[in-house]
Amino acid sequence: MQIGILGSGLMGGKLGTLFARAGHEVVFSYARHRKKLEDLAREAGPKARAGTPHEAARGAEVLLLAVHWSKIDTVLEQAGDLSDKVVMSCSLPMNEDDTELVIAHTSSGAEHLAKKVPKARIVSAFNTVPSEVLFGVFERRPKPRPHLVYCGDDAPAKRTAGKLIAELGFDPIDAGPLRLARYTEPFALLVARLAYEGESGPELAYRFEHFAKG
Ligand SMILES: NC(=O)c1ccc[n+]([C@@H]2O[C@H](COP(=O)([O-])OP(=O)(O)OC[C@H]3O[C@@H](n4cnc5c(N)ncnc54)[C@H](OP(=O)(O)O)[C@@H]3O)[C@@H](O)[C@H]2O)c1
Repeated sequence: MQIGILGSGLMGGKLGTLFARAGHEVVFSYARHRKKLEDLAREAGPKARAGTPHEAARGAEVLLLAVHWSKIDTVLEQAGDLSDKVVMSCSLPMNEDDTELVIAHTSSGAEHLAKKVPKARIVSAFNTVPSEVLFGVFERRPKPRPHLVYCGDDAPAKRTAGKLIAELGFDPIDAGPLRLARYTEPFALLVARLAYEGESGPELAYRFEHFAKG
């Protein structure tokens, strides 16, 4: 698959690198310096290159949106037409200083995004784990695999996202329609809290278990 990365920071840089290592063609875009995108592409290997958001979106079947919430409009405008594209968003609707969600409870960042780009096929994914755990899960393939929740309204788009989540070493958990991002986005803040304020370091992922009798 051709995957365009819109926002090549902690999340986009790492996820794009891992998608390239998993065999996909990746275009890194949207950083403040072109050199950063070129360095990322060089380190990610021959399947990766640097480009503009427009170049990342053109020809891509899948896009990863990984920018701060305040940059969503800018990057979408630069990306251009996203009709029919699978847009996996890990962006959380945080305020400027990243202390709280600016959309919650009665809506979610993912639903807002879907309204901004109604022709794109939005899947909320990869936002419930810290970037620090991604390489470890990909490289070490822990058993059992950590879960990773995702949600969306477009079934084929969700199948694509689920496949990519599995390729990165996680066990994908389909949480349901996009409105479930109202639950997954605050959950992401809990995971971040445990990762960054806990005592065991940020390489944190999670796994739900059933404890039914018998
Ligand atoms: N970090 C995590 O562990 C984590 C986990 C779950 C969800 N999220 C969410 O994922 C999204 C991305 O987070 P992140 O931690 O990856 O953010 P980040 O490291 O700050 O990356 C954002 C990217 O946007 C680029 N950018 C920012 N301002 C720009 C500008 N004016 N012009 C061009 N490029 C610009 C940055 O460029 P530079 O590279 O030049 O800085 C960077 O490549 C956020 O919505 C966050 O809430 C993050």
